[in-house]
Amino acid sequence: MNKYKLSQAVLLIFLFLLANPFADGQPSTDVIIQAGKPVAEVQPVMWGVFFEDINFAADGGIYAELVKNRSFEFSLPLMGWRQVRKDGNGRVLPTFYSPARPSNPRYVTIVVDAESGSFGLVNEGFRGMGIKKDLRYDFSIMARTGSGKISGMKIELLGQNDEIIGTAQLSGFTGEWMKHSVSFKALKTEQKATMRILFSGRGSVDIDMVSLFPSDTWKGRPGGLRRDIVQLIADLQPGFLRFPGGCIVEGRDLANRYQWKKTVGPVDERTMIMNRWNVEIRNRQAPDYFQTFGLGFFEYFQLAEDIGAEPLPILNCGMSCQFNAAEVVPMNELDPYIQDALDLIEFANGPVTTKWGGLRASMGHPSPFNLKYIGIGNEQWEEQYIERYRVFEKVIREKHPEIKIVSGSGPSASGAYFDYAWTELKKLSPDLIDEHYYMPPEWFLQNAERYDSYDRKGIKVFAGEYAAHGKEGTASESRNTWISALSEAAFMTGLERNAEVVHMASYAPLLAHVDAWQWRPDLIWFDNLNVMGSPNYYVQKMFSTHRGTHVVPALSNGKPLTGKDSLYVSSTIDRKNGKLYVKIVNSSRSAKPARFTLEEFNPAREAGIETLRSDDPFSYNSMANPKLIFPSARTLIVEGRRFSITVEPLSANVLVFQAKN
Ligand code: AHR
Repeated sequence: MNKYKLSQAVLLIFLFLLANPFADGQPSTDVIIQAGKPVAEVQPVMWGVFFEDINFAADGGIYAELVKNRSFEFSLPLMGWRQVRKDGNGRVLPTFYSPARPSNPRYVTIVVDAESGSFGLVNEGFRGMGIKKDLRYDFSIMARTGSGKISGMKIELLGQNDEIIGTAQLSGFTGEWMKHSVSFKALKTEQKATMRILFSGRGSVDIDMVSLFPSDTWKGRPGGLRRDIVQLIADLQPGFLRFPGGCIVEGRDLANRYQWKKTVGPVDERTMIMNRWNVEIRNRQAPDYFQTFGLGFFEYFQLAEDIGAEPLPILNCGMSCQFNAAEVVPMNELDPYIQDALDLIEFANGPVTTKWGGLRASMGHPSPFNLKYIGIGNEQWEEQYIERYRVFEKVIREKHPEIKIVSGSGPSASGAYFDYAWTELKKLSPDLIDEHYYMPPEWFLQNAERYDSYDRKGIKVFAGEYAAHGKEGTASESRNTWISALSEAAFMTGLERNAEVVHMASYAPLLAHVDAWQWRPDLIWFDNLNVMGSPNYYVQKMFSTHRGTHVVPALSNGKPLTGKDSLYVSSTIDRKNGKLYVKIVNSSRSAKPARFTLEEFNPAREAGIETLRSDDPFSYNSMANPKLIFPSARTLIVEGRRFSITVEPLSANVLVFQAKN
């Protein structure tokens, strides 16, 4: 039995033990929903999303650019490109490096030797290019001619067999650098197309910023984001968007850290760096993974605004990843890092007359982004973090008391780093402490009471990264199985029940390319043309789209249901729309009858029940079967305030009641 099979077997035994021993006798669980006794507010930001450029989430993912290494800035300048000779001769001269343009110094020179025929380059895209029949594609290139006469250029999209599935021509190059653009329609749909550019004439031409975008971007923005992926995120109605990570905030070393100022302004002036996930996971190396920052801080703020989420940027606190180089900026050299935080607040909220507010305006957004939260550090630990966090907190509090500050608590849900962070942070005053837990499904099933003992008056919790991993470590077997999603749903009833303590929560990571991932499981999967939600996605959606404004007690024998008889229940009421929501999770393989009483709530006769379930705890959605685990909805007829339901085996459900009046 391999390790994966063994872990499945252990989990099955666990589920069997959880099963109600009286299941055959069908004893009913009584649940009283005290709708008239709200105990806590549910924050509008309660359920949000965590975005990190991991698994080709940004470049090759949501950022719709189809050309890989468009500006020849990857460490190998021709990575992603190959030369083609189509009855013609030519060369690509060694890369030119122009220090006059420090943020984008490299370009290449193409020399075409033969008048007839053509010579050029092929770009392979990010594991190919997704091309859609009849869609308009927008090509652009920076070019200037050198010696001889390059008369023009042909752009060709190629299918799997190198057949031409879209073509356009450009001419009119001059001796000055200029952007040249052309748009054309694709003739065929292709999952893994490539793009060939062929030069005609004889002579040399310098090229840079070779770009191809589909026209069907989110909100039709040129150079924008993939609409289908953004739509799936928007459908979650997330309360916040955390960005840009994650470990990429920290960098493997400080030079590799995320610096927001290098991600704003004109796209061709943003300084590209290696993506740390390029080399991080031993068995999932991705040498062609870089960050072009076409999706930079302006675009993150804009995305948050578009989908109605509060922006939550996380900034480097003067420390690189402690699992990697663990570089720490000396305390007397921390000022630039703190200034970055202050300038970011100005970039997001400052008047257009300020330096950074002015930049925001010049990028097309004169009105402020209304930034309310800022996170300092990701998964840092020990006194090196606390010392630095303390200075950030002091300065931000003094200058921007209106901003809520999020601090970290290290990389795990318990242990020495975690305890130390909480002890020290209680002496300071962060508004929220970010907790991370990537644990087995059993842990999630057993920890629905995690926050019951947290101080109601203390610092609030941001469950900033969590996911049930069926397998620990870097093994590739971890998947978005139904049991992982179901166990998260069970745990999330505990987050919701404790909304007084837990103000924000986000599953992590958010996105993954099926052909280019480093980390699994992930909430949303995509290939070059399609996108799908994992079962975990539908669990998140179940909670976030049935959020409610206040928690109300859901009790069985006077106690919340936190796993007794494999049942987990939480309930919220929405004072704005008069709805009552009851989430109920059955983690066992037996159906569970439950008798509900709704106190102080007159439900309309027709209620709704949405169910997510699968008989196979190890099943998962795939591109071939993206809706294997998908919510189903039915109507529930409720006569009065008492009713019974049977909670299906291995299911997560939300009951939705509308108040009669
Ligand atoms: O979500 C993937 C990674 O997990 C994040 O980058 C990091 O914060 C955590 O360790």
